[in-house]
Parts: sequence; C-alpha cells; structure tokens
Amino acid sequence: MAITTRPLSPTLGAEVSGVDMASALDADTAGTLRDLWRRHGLLLFRGQELEEKQLVEFSRNFGSLEIHLRREYLSSENPEVLYVSNMKKEGRPIGILADTEVGWHYDQIYLPRPAVGSLLYAVVIPSDRGATSFADMSAAYEALPGSLKQRIEGRKAVQSYEAFNRSYSVPTSEEQRRKTPDIEHPLVRTHPYTGRKALYICPGMTTRIAGLPEEESSALLAELFAWSTQPRFVYTHSWRLGDALLWDNASTMHRREPFDTNQQRLMKRTTILPDADRAAPF
Ligand SMILES: [Fe+2]
Repeated sequence: MAITTRPLSPTLGAEVSGVDMASALDADTAGTLRDLWRRHGLLLFRGQELEEKQLVEFSRNFGSLEIHLRREYLSSENPEVLYVSNMKKEGRPIGILADTEVGWHYDQIYLPRPAVGSLLYAVVIPSDRGATSFADMSAAYEALPGSLKQRIEGRKAVQSYEAFNRSYSVPTSEEQRRKTPDIEHPLVRTHPYTGRKALYICPGMTTRIAGLPEEESSALLAELFAWSTQPRFVYTHSWRLGDALLWDNASTMHRREPFDTNQQRLMKRTTILPDADRAAPF
C-alpha cells in the first residue's frame, strides 16, 4: 500500500497512511519514514494494533532505543517500553506521570545525550480522549526577532530533571538523582540530522541561562517561552485509541493537556537515541 501524508497543522506534523506498524518495514519504507519524521517533526499513525514487541521493532527503524531510568515503570517483558499511566496494579501505579497536568518539556533534555525521538502509543484513553500539544521549536526560533536571536546567540541553558520532578511531585530515588545532575546544553540546538536550529529550552526543565544574572535569565526565558507557545507554532493532538505519535525530540517540546482523571489512561512509550557521533547537542 502506498504511503500518503496529510499535514496536521500549518507548522508541524503529518498524518501518515498506508503503514501497518505491526509488520516489518522494508529498507525503502523505513528510509521514507525517517525522512518524513525529520521533515514534519511529528508523525501520526492511526488505527494501529500493536503488541509491545511490534512497537519496539517499529521504533528500532529510527534509532537504538533507550531503557528509561524510571525502571519501576518499564514493561517487564520489553524494557524498551515505558508506561505513562494513571492505572494501578495491586495498589501500585504501573506508569509514570499518573494524572497530574504535565507542562511543556523535551523528553530527557537533562541527559548528556538526550533522546532525538519519542513514540507514544495510545492503549487506553479516557472518554474525553485527552490531548497532547506539541510546539515547533525550529519554527519558533526562525521567526524570532533579530534582537532576541542576538541575545541568545552562543548561550547555554541549565537543564534540571530535579526541577521537573519537584513541579510534579514525582518521587525520585537516590540512584535516579545521581544519574541526573543538572546539565548545560546550547540554548539553540542544531538538529543532528537536518542542521536546522531550534530553541532547546522548556519551562518544565530549564532553570536558567548560564552566565546571566538571575533576574535577566528568568525574564528572557519567560519571553522565549511565551514566544514559542503561540498558537501558530503549536499543534494539539486529540487522542484516539490506536494512535501512535512519533515526534522529533530535538526540535519539538510537548505537554499533556488535562484529562478526566477518574478514568483510566495508558500510553506506551519508546524513546529513540541518536547515533553516537551525533548524540551530544551542539
Ligand atoms: Fe514527555
């Protein structure tokens, strides 16, 4: 079946038809999908019926997969799969980020070699469906006024997993804390594959701009966040069962919108790493 695409918004994302994620992809199809992923920043595949193993195998077409440091929320059979859920088993949560609102963030921006992609697959959704929003940080960077571009040129920003966990009251183990000290990355990231530049900051995890006084740093970050979350840079996805969303995590930040937390929700996520020679943000 031929692959076709339909844009999801003026700036970001495409719905891809003609792909059954449960089947192995031939090399040409995998190459086409990698190109589409990088060009559109976000790909939506609808109506998928996937075993975890198939989700993992499909994800491998885009890079090697991360075993997330939240080991308590990994699938026991397929540790490449992280559960994002408010469901419980024997009184214990099976997934991360149960039912709080989750603000804008890049997945794993706090690591030395952050993921370049995440894939979220909707397994159980509430009747209000819930939504996740995505901000195109390349488009936001490119549209910045020249004076703002100049102010951030060559700057680095501090990323903190601790800050994220504190905001959402997510308990962190000693080991998880040890593995995630605060880290500096370039504030403007050059995409490891396309060379496009993007704002590489997010309200959830970026605590300050290195080398600037506290007040100036906070004001500039607030200005950049307000800029990049304007509707013209944002696509909001209302979930359907069987949706799979693959996004470019080097140039797109996302947030979960509120949903009816009296109902169950389960998303299965894989996390895609860049090739070793392109791993560190630059
Ligand atoms: Fe996330």
